[in-house]
Amino acid sequence: MSKLAIHGGRPVREKPFPTYNTIGDEEKRAVMEVLDSGVLSQFLGTWSPDFFGGPRVQALERAWEAHFGIKHAVSVNSATSGLYAAVGAAGVGPGDEVVVSPYTMSASATAPLVYGAIPVFADIDPDTFCITAETIRRRITARTKAIIVVDIFGHPADMDPIMALAAEHGLTVIEDAAQAPGATYKGRPAGTLAHIGVFSLNYHKTIHCGEGGVAVTNDPRLADRLQLIRNHAEAVVANKGTADIVNLVGFNYRMTEIEAAIATEQLKNLARLVEPRQAAAAYYDGRLRGLPGLSVPHVAPNVTHGYYVYTMKYDASLSGVPRQRFADAVVAEGVPVSSGYVEPLYLQPLYKQRIALGRDGFPFTLSGHDNEVDYRRGLCPVAERMHFEEVVITSLVHAGLSAADLCDVANAIEKVVENRGELGTGL
Ligand SMILES: Cc1ncc(COP(=O)(O)O)c(C=O)c1O
Repeated sequence: MSKLAIHGGRPVREKPFPTYNTIGDEEKRAVMEVLDSGVLSQFLGTWSPDFFGGPRVQALERAWEAHFGIKHAVSVNSATSGLYAAVGAAGVGPGDEVVVSPYTMSASATAPLVYGAIPVFADIDPDTFCITAETIRRRITARTKAIIVVDIFGHPADMDPIMALAAEHGLTVIEDAAQAPGATYKGRPAGTLAHIGVFSLNYHKTIHCGEGGVAVTNDPRLADRLQLIRNHAEAVVANKGTADIVNLVGFNYRMTEIEAAIATEQLKNLARLVEPRQAAAAYYDGRLRGLPGLSVPHVAPNVTHGYYVYTMKYDASLSGVPRQRFADAVVAEGVPVSSGYVEPLYLQPLYKQRIALGRDGFPFTLSGHDNEVDYRRGLCPVAERMHFEEVVITSLVHAGLSAADLCDVANAIEKVVENRGELGTGL
C-alpha cells in the first residue's frame, strides 16, 4: 500500500494547525480604554493640533520612532496607503518612471500609478528574491524618479549599493518593509534603510492591528509631506503655510485610535513575535537542508531574516517530480504549502492591457518609449523562474506553533521527498 497520503496513505498531520492569534489581554485592555474614552479617532483635516491625530495615534508614532531609531513615523491605515503617500511625498508625477519589483504584493507597484507614473520592473536576485543595484541600474532612464525596493518574505534587500546608485542618479528610494518588521541589515532595522520605509499592520503580518501601516523617514520634509497626504492636504496647506503643493492632493489615510492602541501593544511584543519565526526557520533548516531537490532559504551574511514566511526552492530536475505534484503531496499530508508566490506583476491584466486610469492607456501613453515600457513575458526571467518553477512556501513559522507542530511540517516534507518515487516523474 502507498505510504503517501495523496495515494490514500495516512497523513502525517490529521488535525489543523493552530490559527495565528497574537492578541492578548494588553490589546483588549487598550481597546477598552479607547472605547471608554468615546473618541475613536481624533483627526481633523484642518491645520489644528488635531491634524496630527489623537493621543494613541501619536503615542504609536513616538513608540515606533524610538523602537526603530528613526526620526519620524507617520501612521496610516494600511501599507498600501503608506506606499501611495510615499510616492506622493517623493514628488513623483505623470510620466515619471519608478523602478519596482515584480515579485511582491501588487500595491508595491501600483503606488506610482496613483500619481500618473509608470512602474518599470527590475528582476530579482534568485537567492534573496529582492531587486538589486545591478538589476535596477539596467532599468534607469532619464525619466526615472524613484525606486521601490521590497524586503520580500522578510529578507531585507541589499540596500547600501541601491542607495549609492540612487544618490548617483538623484532618485528617492522607498523601502517596502511590509513583510520585514524585526529583520535587520548590517545591524540596522529593515524599514529604516531608505529615504522612506513602509510597514504593514494587516492581519497576516508579524505585528498587526486589523488594518494599518506606518511610514518612516529621517527627512523632516518628507515626514511633513507624508502627514499632509495622509490628511486632506489641500484643505490644510494655506493655513499651514506650505509653499510647495506638488502632489498635495490629500487623502484620508488616517489610522483610528483603536488600531493605534492595538498596534502600540503589538509593537512591544515585536521581538517576541519575530523570535519564534526565526526559531522555526532554524529548525526547518536543520531538518530539510540537503533533501534532494529542496533548498532552504538563503540568508545573506549581514542580515537577520524576519521570516514572514519560509520560502524554499525546489529543483524538479534533481527530485524527479514536478513542483506542483510535490506541493500537492505535502498538502495531502496535512501541511499547507504553496508553489510560487504571486505571478510577476507585469503579467496582471493592468500591465498586459495597459489600462490603469481611464480607458485610454493613461499613464502608460506618457511613456517616452512609444508607449512601450516592457511588460512582456520574459521581462524578468529570474522572477518568472522563481514563481513558475522553483518557489515553495509555508507560512507555518508564526508564533503559537508548538515543537510538535513544527516537527509535523518537517516530517511531511521529508516523507514526500523520501517517497517521491511513488509520485512518478511526470517530467
Ligand atoms: C510586500 C507588501 N507590500 C505591501 C502590502 C500592502 O499591505 P496592506 O495590506 O497593509 O496595505 C503587503 C501586504 O500583503 C505586502 O506584503
